[in-house]
Amino acid sequence: MKQINLPDIIVTIEKSGNRFNAWDADGTKWTSSITTGARKKAFNGNYPLGRFTNKVGKHYWRQVNEDIISSLLPTPSPSAVEIPEDHAEVLNFIHSSYSLKPQGLVMSELKWKYLMRSAVRGKNIMMTGQAGCGKTMAAKAVVNALDRPDYYFNLGATQDPRATLIGNVHFDKTKGTFFSKSLFVKAITTPNSVILLDELTRAHPDAWNILMTVLDYGQRYLRLDEQEDQATIRVADGVTFVATANIGNEYTATRVLDKALMDRFTIVEMDLLSDEEEKGLLTYMFPNVDNTLLENVAKIAHMTRIESSNETARISSGISTRTSVEMSGLLFDGFKLEEAADVCVYPQYDNTGGVDSERTFVKQIVQKFLDDGSNDELFSEEEVTEATN
Ligand SMILES: Nc1ncnc2c1ncn2[C@@H]1O[C@H](COP(=O)(O)OP(=O)(O)OP(=O)(O)O)[C@@H](O)[C@H]1O
Ligand SMILES: [Mg+2]
Repeated sequence: MKQINLPDIIVTIEKSGNRFNAWDADGTKWTSSITTGARKKAFNGNYPLGRFTNKVGKHYWRQVNEDIISSLLPTPSPSAVEIPEDHAEVLNFIHSSYSLKPQGLVMSELKWKYLMRSAVRGKNIMMTGQAGCGKTMAAKAVVNALDRPDYYFNLGATQDPRATLIGNVHFDKTKGTFFSKSLFVKAITTPNSVILLDELTRAHPDAWNILMTVLDYGQRYLRLDEQEDQATIRVADGVTFVATANIGNEYTATRVLDKALMDRFTIVEMDLLSDEEEKGLLTYMFPNVDNTLLENVAKIAHMTRIESSNETARISSGISTRTSVEMSGLLFDGFKLEEAADVCVYPQYDNTGGVDSERTFVKQIVQKFLDDGSNDELFSEEEVTEATN
């Protein structure tokens, strides 16, 4: 008899600001578990999505039709998250908030709780850490975990900070000159909104100047125009800002963030994953890929990180978690480890200097995990064990 696969959760998609949020009947938000593409398609097609489980126990989301929905009994689900008011409730909320962290995000319990606490307390949060270590992912997870209106701005991608943060002046034959406010103005005037300022360090210095008064706890206003009427807009009560920083020598496009602006933030540093955590993440994400292969990816990444943090480092940066996830994706799609390294890793390392180049060095590390381990030019077995423990 054919078993019918039924979804355990059904969500409908609502558009709020520039986001497509997924809600189930109990008011629980599932946005972070579903890809943006799937949510957008469901919204445009006006159909609900269901969470199904595949043979290996992994969840996936797809369209559900009406008769499946009516055949389902209501399922018990965790209650919606509301920001508590009194202190006992706040304490309880913060200390039980680890369950709100998405499983696919690797972050220590302490860091996550600190992040949630800063958000609940209305601090301006700045996520820092190396490239591809989960800053944007963690910032988005916080925004999703709090049941509050949310807005996303990628400041690294804006060419015109005034238009993005303030608005545009238009001219119309009948109306004359008029001002259209930006989405950012809407965001800061929405009480209790959570506003994600991604890649703030890559933003134009004009953007920093505009944000200076907005982020200042003592000022909290946006100045619309410096010259003319000095009109300002107040930041609504309960608004929280979460920014991400790309700080480090590998970012050439990153400007050094103004000290005064940096001072307005509570810093939450994302840690690099240990090789055990890295392997755990990769096996969680790719349960169908051979375990040893994933373990090797984690070890390669880990060894490059250890090397790059040495005083006598022969490479300037380690392989990021973003890259190890990409490599594993290639393994999942049938590429060999050496092929995955060839396309995702080597191009990140400088090729000049021939045998003494960074690229050659990284190639040798990868090589260790391709052969039987008899090639001991670079690291002894003990070094490998030590580095990976
Ligand atoms: N701590 C982590 N937990 C889970 N996945 C991670 C983590 N860090 C990185 N990843 C993976 O790497 C990808 C990139 O992460 P993310 O965009 O959050 O990095 P970032 O720190 O914002 O990078 P950048 O400095 O380039 O802005 C994620 O989509 C995820 O697949
Ligand atoms: Mg980022």
